[in-house]
Amino acid sequence: MKSFGALFLIVITGLTTSWYSLLVVTADKLGPGNLNSSVSFAGEDIVVHADEGLAARGKDVYLEMGCALCHTQQVRRPGYGGDLDREWGSRQAVPRDYLLQKNVILGNKRQGPDLSNVGARHDATWLYVHLFRPGINSEVTTMPDYSFLFEKKELDITPSSNALQLAGNDTIEEGYEIVPTKDAEALVAYLQSLNLDYDLPESRRVR
Ligand code: HEC
Repeated sequence: MKSFGALFLIVITGLTTSWYSLLVVTADKLGPGNLNSSVSFAGEDIVVHADEGLAARGKDVYLEMGCALCHTQQVRRPGYGGDLDREWGSRQAVPRDYLLQKNVILGNKRQGPDLSNVGARHDATWLYVHLFRPGINSEVTTMPDYSFLFEKKELDITPSSNALQLAGNDTIEEGYEIVPTKDAEALVAYLQSLNLDYDLPESRRVR
C-alpha cells in the first residue's frame, strides 16, 4: 500500500510536469506574449519592448524578407532629421529600448519610413493589404509586393474570418479569397508590436 502511494505520486508529478511543459509553456510561446516587459536595470524597474510569442516569430520573417534593407527602427532625436515631425514616433529611441531584444534591427537605409512605432500607426487590416500589394495604400511606392506570403483559396459558403479586405475586390478572381499564411500572420503581429508607447527616464514622450 505504501509503494502504491509513492507510485501514485510519481505518476501525478510526471503528468503535471508534461502538461505544464507541453501545453502551458508552448501556449505561452505561441500566444501574443508580453510585448512590453518590466526589467530590473541598474537597480530600477523599467518597462521596455520585448519580442515574445507570435511577434518573436514575426521578427524572423522580417529578417528573412529583407525588410531591414529599406526600413530602420531608430527614431532620431529632434535636431537630427525630422523623425518626430514626420510622426515616426513620439520620442527618440534610446539604447534601453533594445535591452530585451536578442537581435536588434536598427537598419541603416531609409527608403521607406522608420518602423519603430508602426504598430501605433496602422491596424492589422491595413498592414495585411500593404504587404500583399503596397501600391493599394500608397500611390507611389518602391516597396515590393509580398503577395507570396498569402494564399489564394477557393471561397467556401462563408468567407474565412482572416480573408484579405481589398477595396473593390478587383484583384481577386471571382469565387476565390486571399488569406494570410502563418508567416504573414507572424509578421503582422511583429509589426503591430512595434510601439515605443512608454516613457524612459532619459527619453520622455513629447506628444
Ligand atoms: C525596396 C525597399 C523596401 C523594402 C525591401 C520593404 N519596404 Fe516597406 N516601404 C518602402 C517604402 C518606399 C515605403 C513608403 C511608401 C509606401 O507606403 O509604400 C514603405 C512603407 C512601408 C510601411 C508603411 C509605413 C508607414 O509609416 O506608413 C510598412 C508597414 C512597411 N513598409 C513594411 C515593410 C515590411 C514588413 C517589409 C518586409 C516584408 C518591407 N516593408 C520591405 C520600401 C520598402
